[in-house]
Parts: sequence; structure tokens; C-alpha cells
Amino acid sequence: MRVGFIGAGSMGSMLTGSFIRSGALRPSDIILSTRTLSKANALANRYPGIQIAPSNASAVLGSDLVFLCVKPLDFRSVLQEIAPSLQPWQIVVSITSPVRLEALERLIPSKAAKIIPSIVNETLAGSSLVMFGSRLEERDRALLFRLFSAISRPVQIAEEDVRVASDIASCGPAFMANLLEQFIEAAVSTTGVSRETATVLARDMLLGTARLLQNAGCSPAELQKRVSVPGGITAVALEELKDATNGAFLRVLQATHAKFAEDLEKVDASLNDSQDQP
Ligand SMILES: NC(=O)c1ccc[n+]([C@@H]2O[C@H](COP(=O)([O-])OP(=O)(O)OC[C@H]3O[C@@H](n4cnc5c(N)ncnc54)[C@H](OP(=O)(O)O)[C@@H]3O)[C@@H](O)[C@H]2O)c1
Repeated sequence: MRVGFIGAGSMGSMLTGSFIRSGALRPSDIILSTRTLSKANALANRYPGIQIAPSNASAVLGSDLVFLCVKPLDFRSVLQEIAPSLQPWQIVVSITSPVRLEALERLIPSKAAKIIPSIVNETLAGSSLVMFGSRLEERDRALLFRLFSAISRPVQIAEEDVRVASDIASCGPAFMANLLEQFIEAAVSTTGVSRETATVLARDMLLGTARLLQNAGCSPAELQKRVSVPGGITAVALEELKDATNGAFLRVLQATHAKFAEDLEKVDASLNDSQDQP
């Protein structure tokens, strides 16, 4: 299989590296193009065998799958460059939420899918959010599921749920890391514990918590019950935490949805303007 990647930033690099380390792809399966050549070179040095394409158009030539790992407002120019080289049998995957499948199918002659990864896929864990365009056949869907199963748990979602699902699966690591950072800072600033010790304890706690939550019957509510004896220290502190964070995630979701609506408007305008249709 030949797989093209356009964009070698945070996500393009994470996906190429993770697919290779999981064994799902060999470096020689991958051809990469990006704007800043040094980033492509860094990946090719790390995984010898990756080919660097001289242009986005040449990265898609002969590729069975093409991942578009650029930011939403760069889609217009990238699609204009690659559309003339794309064929109906090829599958193009957008990894960004505000680019609609309908727009992709309007602007390129290929099959299209939207798959939102998460930074945690780098550890071959976490979910990836899968949305299929109308031109994909059963074997295309199976191929994409198989590929993403190597680095994640692929979860098929409706396109209209992409924002809230991305908030949890893709933005979630940043939200959880921020809460952890606040916990560590509070510990360090109010007690004699060292930052190093607090960080190790917090990190191991989060890892163990995630593992417990994987067990059947251990929901977040159940886990809180198991740790907090009524009237005990955790129970008292949990009430404080609930008070302090009451409504916090409603505000988080309002913020992501408002920004998403803004992005959608800009991306729709930029792609609706595009003259290059198949
Ligand atoms: N970060 C996450 O956790 C995450 C999770 C899920 C989905 N996403 C989505 O993934 C997309 C990419 O995010 P990212 O964090 O990887 O961004 P990023 O680090 O900025 O990477 C974007 C890459 O695209 C390259 N690029 C821009 N225009 C190009 C063009 N015309 N031709 C070829 N390459 C071009 C950039 O080149 P330069 O190096 O020259 O800038 C950069 O390497 C975003 O839309 C984001 O929403 C991100």
C-alpha cells in the first residue's frame, strides 16, 4: 500500500510515526510532502525509507490513501493543487473537523473520509473518530478501520457529532493535563512536596485511574464512590472540588462549539469560493 501524507506538523508526524511503530505501515509505504522541508527531512531521518515528494501533487500520485494533515484554512490551496492529480479509486482523509465531507466530495474526484485522531494515539491508545463519505465502498471502510485499529480504537460517529466527540477524544488530553497541572501546582505551592515527586504521583495516579475505568462496572461515578468513604477526607474534598468546578465543562463545551461555528463559517466560505471542482 502507498500512503501519502500532506503536512508534517504535530499530527502528520504523530500519525506517520505511530503507523510505523505499530507495524501497520512500513516507512517505504509512505510518501510525504509539507511546506517546511526540514520537518519532512526530520521524519525521513527518523524513519529511513520514507520518501519525500517534491510537491503536494506528486505525493498523491499513485497513493491508495492520502492524509491531509494541514490546518482547515490551508485546505483550499492544497485541494486546488492535488485535485487534478487525484483519481476516483483513491481515498483522501481529512483529519480536521471543520472541513465537511460534502465539501471534500465536491472539490475532489476521489473517495473521502474524515478521521480525527488524538495526540494520545502516539501511545497506540485512545480513540480516533471516523466519518465516511458517500463514495467509500465496504472494503475502503474496512481498510480505514484496520489501519486506525493499529494505533487507536476507531469509533464511527455522525458528522454532526464531530465537535463534541473531538472535545472529549482530542481536546480532552489538554483539558485533563491542565487539571493535573493545577493539582501539582497547588501541592507544590502549599506544601513541602517537590515538583518532581508531585508530578510522578499525579502522572501515575492518572494512568492507574484510566486503567480502573477500563474495567466493566467501574464508571466515573462508581470510582468516586469507591475512593470516598462517607465523612472521610476524600468525600469532604470532593464536595469542594464539585463546588469549584461546577459548570466548568459546560463552559468548555460552549467555548469549543462557538469557535467551531466560527471556523466552519470561514472554511465553508473558503471552500465554497473554490473554482476547482472535479
Ligand atoms: N493537534 C491535535 O491534537 C489535533 C488532533 C486532531 C486533529 N487535529 C487537526 O489536525 C490539523 C493539523 O494540526 P497540527 O497540530 O498537525 O498543525 P501543525 O502542527 O501546524 O501542522 C500543519 C502542517 O501543515 C503544513 N502545511 C501548511 N500548508 C501547507 C501546504 N500548502 N502544503 C503542505 N503542507 C502544508 C505546515 O507546514 P509548516 O511546518 O511550514 O507550517 C505544518 O507542517 C488541524 O486542522 C487540527 O485541527 C489536531
